[in-house]
Order: sequence, then structure tokens, then C-alpha cells
Amino acid sequence: MTAKVLITSALPYANGPLHFGHIAGAYLPGDCYARFERLRGKEVLYLCGSDEHGVAITLSAELAGRSSKDHVDLFHKINQEIFSQLQFSFDHYSRTTWPGHYTATQEFFKVLQKNGYIEEKTEDHLYSEKENRFLADRYVVGTCPKCGYEEARGDECQKCASSYEAIDLKQPRSKLTNSPLILRPSTHLYLRFDLFKEQLKEWILSKKWKENVVRFAMGYIDDLKPRAITRDSEWGIPVPGYPNKVFYVWFDAPIGYISAAKEWAEKIGEPKRWEEFWLDPETKLVEFIGKDNIPFHAVFFPAMLMGQDLPYKLPDELPANEFYMLEGRQFSKSDGWTIDLQEFFKCYSADQIRYAIAANAPETSDSDFSWKDFQMRCNAELLGKLGNFVHRVLTFSHQHAEGKVPALTPYDGADRDFLEKIDTHVEVASYQYEQFHLRKACQALMDLCQTANAYFDTKKPWKLAKDPEQKEELLASIACCLHCIKAIALLSAPLMPDSSQKIWNFLGNQLPLTQETWDAIKKSQLPAGQLLTKPEVLFRKVEDAEILEQIEKLGRKPKEEVKPEAALTSYEPLKKPIAFDQFGDIDLRVALVLEAERVPKSKKLLKLIVDLGFEKRTIVSGIALTYEPEKLIGKKVVIVANLAPAKIMGIESQGMILAAAGGPHLELPEIQQLPPGSSVS
Ligand code: 2FM
Ligand code: ZN
Repeated sequence: MTAKVLITSALPYANGPLHFGHIAGAYLPGDCYARFERLRGKEVLYLCGSDEHGVAITLSAELAGRSSKDHVDLFHKINQEIFSQLQFSFDHYSRTTWPGHYTATQEFFKVLQKNGYIEEKTEDHLYSEKENRFLADRYVVGTCPKCGYEEARGDECQKCASSYEAIDLKQPRSKLTNSPLILRPSTHLYLRFDLFKEQLKEWILSKKWKENVVRFAMGYIDDLKPRAITRDSEWGIPVPGYPNKVFYVWFDAPIGYISAAKEWAEKIGEPKRWEEFWLDPETKLVEFIGKDNIPFHAVFFPAMLMGQDLPYKLPDELPANEFYMLEGRQFSKSDGWTIDLQEFFKCYSADQIRYAIAANAPETSDSDFSWKDFQMRCNAELLGKLGNFVHRVLTFSHQHAEGKVPALTPYDGADRDFLEKIDTHVEVASYQYEQFHLRKACQALMDLCQTANAYFDTKKPWKLAKDPEQKEELLASIACCLHCIKAIALLSAPLMPDSSQKIWNFLGNQLPLTQETWDAIKKSQLPAGQLLTKPEVLFRKVEDAEILEQIEKLGRKPKEEVKPEAALTSYEPLKKPIAFDQFGDIDLRVALVLEAERVPKSKKLLKLIVDLGFEKRTIVSGIALTYEPEKLIGKKVVIVANLAPAKIMGIESQGMILAAAGGPHLELPEIQQLPPGSSVS
């Protein structure tokens, strides 16, 4: 029977677009592993989906001025699109607002309740007198009880990754109003995690997980207490029998791994199929997470599974990665410390970013995306070592081997040595993929390319090609190089799905690489006489200028988000009616922007010099929140030319620019053809 592997990547909150920091932690390692296991012929079910409940959602929806439902609908779609641009191979991408997840969560709860693991308790909770409501988790900030970080969130500390109850925070205050919070009693349901202490301890100690995961998990187990699994909120999964309560997001989210499997099974028309993965002890369950998720995956969710009647799988492996930063700082959209992925994908390929992240993945300590490192990975490694070898060997094969694969018959010791080294690199890469060591798998791939280039340079087949006597040695050498390119395609497959497939096709193979198996490719030889195809360039060079431009963009604050306003359906006059002639008195003209700069000490104002054809004017305009000054130069705008001059921040403004306004966002009407000075009416 084929071995089954169930792989999950932590469900990302649908409260904002994913960035490379997320991708490096729980996602890319999961996708590479899923691709590797599929190639090894395993039956893989790789699941993920949006985590759509909890205060992480309601808070960010509130801040964005959207309903929670609209908010998660928006970001579920955006994040799914990002994963697909990055070539993720999920078998299913679910969401925790689908009805089947509600049923699954409520069923889970009922079984825990029946088995005596739920208790009702009235305890003190944090209450805001100013906002007149109980505040949960992320609505609260305060000082971390473990490490003393003063801006810690209400449910987990983003600095030391501890997880606690909001009332454990010191000096708690409201995230929205900064007002101090008081304690008030409220009734909630608690899960008796303490009853699983011994079972959890024994289970974790039987695992050979990373040392930090075990240490961290054991730290929780020593101090296991009942924890509240309900919240007072309107957004969440209703708790059966408790009309005004919803489940805490960390109760429902991990059940999402199970409901996603159920949804997948329904989708493929075999509704019971999920059981083959979740309920079969032979299945290997691998959960990819970021280090901040360790307590929930190593302690709390396993306890919830232990309390069920069905024999659910517990995770066999829990690869938890550290944090991935951007040029030494945490990614932050609001500070502009981020990379615009839509822009990114216009310039670079999914394979380039997948490789750059994997080669520097935060496996044993925090690591960094830096534009310079990205350039080095693309130019020195992908292009310089991998792409060049593939390209020059194939071009050479077309010139000197009639574009066909020669028989793999080593000619001398150098050939035999090269073939042996290829096998060793393949073995090393295989081991590293199996151990979730992406960095080392990348290293094995590059070592293989390095070996290949060294062989080619030492063998000098271009010299052999000049002497017909040396044809046998030449063809043997080409065959060895093509055999190596096959290994390069294989080792690249989990990391770079597009490029590996292209390389595979260059070798004249017909079947998609994903339909082959690791062992078959490893052991096989390319059939002698197989026709090669013409190689194309795999990776383009990343120039210094573009990297400098990207570095300069960092830290520029994003424009305020434009919320799509509903179109107005009725006319509400904003001003009193005017006579036709009165409007005719306004002299509107086309003006070309010659210069633009910010007005010192003002966030909103720009000082522009515009050309009306017949004269130049200075205009002060309140458009700086929407328009960067340099972007305006060369635009033809419309101005009121006969407005009496007015002093603004000490500068005489000699006219006014017309702009459409939607909240803080402004848009300038632009004239394309007509020259400056033309009249507008
Ligand atoms: O930390 C997070 O982004 C959570 N949304 C992860 C949830 S993982 C699982 F339990 F769903
Ligand atoms: Zn802390």
C-alpha cells in the first residue's frame, strides 16, 4: 500500500496580504516537502486555508472600516492568489467560515463536553469602562508576564512567543483607545487542559523534534491550566447552548486542518476519504508552523485531539521555523517596510523567490530577506552556476552531438568520478529534503552545479571537439553532463517547479516531471539517441540599478488605502444653486506641472510651479497625502486660473488645482492632448 503523508501549513489569518516573512516560515518549506514526498511516490494530502475568526480579524476589519465578512472575503482571495503566483501545490485551500467547519468545530466541542473536559467558570476578565465592553486578546496590549516586553499582545507575546491569558498581562490597556482596563467577572467555558498533562508529556518526550520545540512545549506542560475557549463576540463560531458566546479562534482554527480535509474529500466526490488521512495510524502527519505557533500545535491542539472519541492522528513532525525579516527588520506594511508582491511578480519569477527564500530559510535562527542577497542568489547561483551549465551543455550538445543524447559510457576516471559525485549530491539532497532542511537542500543543488562546472572546465570538451580522434571521449563527456542535468532537474523539482520542468523538457523528456518518481529519475539513464530540445534562458540577470531602486523604495509609507466607495445613487446637493453665468465666470485652464515639492512642516501641502503657456504660476495644493511630488512633474492638470491669490503657509498661491475627493484620497483629472493654457469649460 502507498504510504500516506498528510501535510498542513498553519492557516494564515485572512486579515492582510501575506509577505515573504510568512512564506519563509510555514509555507514554502511545506510546499517543497509536499512536492518532494509526491515525487517519492507517497500519497500526499497537502492542506491549508484562511483562518478567518478571532480578534486578529475583527480588529483589523474595524481599523479598515469593513465588516469582518467583507474583510475575510477580500484577503482570502488575495492570499489564495499570492499562493498561486508562488506555485503552491495545495491539494485544497479551505477557509474557516465554510459551513462544514462550523459543524466540525461544534461536534469537536460536544465530544469534549461529553467526555468531561469542559467546565463553566465565572472569572475576572478585562473590561474597558471607556468602550463599555469586555476586551479580548488582541484588543488588549500590555507588558508581557514572561519577558517584560511593554507592547505585548493580549494572547501571545510577539517578542518571546509566550502564550497566556490576557489577564496575565501587566498594565493592560485598550489597543484602540489606550485607556486602562479593569477586571470584571464574566462566565466562560474552560477546557481542562490540565487533565491531559501526563499523556502530553509522554507523547512529546517520544518525539525527536527540534530541541527548541520540545523545550518550549515542555515549558507549557509543566504549568498546564484550564483555559477559556469561549469569547464574547459577534464574530466567530457559535457555542452550542450558549447564545451569546463564540469559540476562541485558537479552539476553532486547528480544527480547520480536519474540516479542510473533509471539504477536500467532498470536492473530489469521496466524502469519506478524509478519514484515510486523519484516522489511519499509518499516515504520517507533518504540520509546518512558525515558532509563534508552537504551543498551540505541540500542546493545546493535541490535547483537543486526545479528548475526542475518534482516533485522530497526532502530529508526527512539527517543523517550526524562526522569523524571516526584511533587511534586518520585521516586515511592516504600515511602515512601508515591505515588498509589493504585485510589483515583484512583474519583474521576477516565482522560482527566483522560492529559491532565494529557501537558500536562506530561517531554520535554526531568524534570517533575512535582503535585496543584495536576492541578487546574489539569482545571479551567482541560479544564473551563474545552474543556468549557465545547463545552457552551455545543451548548446554544445546541439553543436557536437547532433542534438541527441549519447550513450552513457564513461570514458575515463574523471567521468566515473563525476558520475559518482552526482549520485552523492542526489543522496545528500534527498536526505536534507526529508529532514525539512531546505537551506542544505539548496546547498546540495549548488554543490552539484559547482561539481558540474568544475568537470566541464577540466574536461574542456570544446578542445576534444576539435580532434575527430577524440570523438568517443567527447560523446562520453557530453553524456555525463546530460546525466548531471537530469539530476539538476530532479534536485530543483521541489524548490523550483517551473524551471525544473523546463530543464526536464530540454532533455527531450515527454512526461511531466511531476509524474515521475524520485527513485526512477535517480536510477535511470536518458535513452541514448533521445532528441534534445533547444534550451532557453532560465534565469535573467538582476541588474545593480534595479536592486538599488528596490532598496530605495523600502521605508516609503504606503498611500492611504482607497476604500471602494459605493457609487452614489441619489443626488444630495453639496452647495447652493448658481446661475449659468456664475459658472461661466470661472476661468478653468490646462496647466503643465513644471516643479513640485513638499511644503516644509506640512503633511498635506505641495508647492507646484505650473506653466499656463502664457505665464508660470505658483500653486499650493493639499494633495501630498496622495501624490508624491516627483510623480506630478510633467502632468497636465486643470486649474482655476482667475481665483484671487491667497497666502497658504506663507506662500502665495495663484490658483487652485481641481481634484476629485473620496475621503483622504484625491484624484487629479489629467489632460492628455491639449496644450497648457487651453480653456476648460
Ligand atoms: O498565527 C497565525 O497566523 C494563525 N492564524 C495560525 C493558525 S494555525 C492553525 F491552527 F490553524
Ligand atoms: Zn514576552
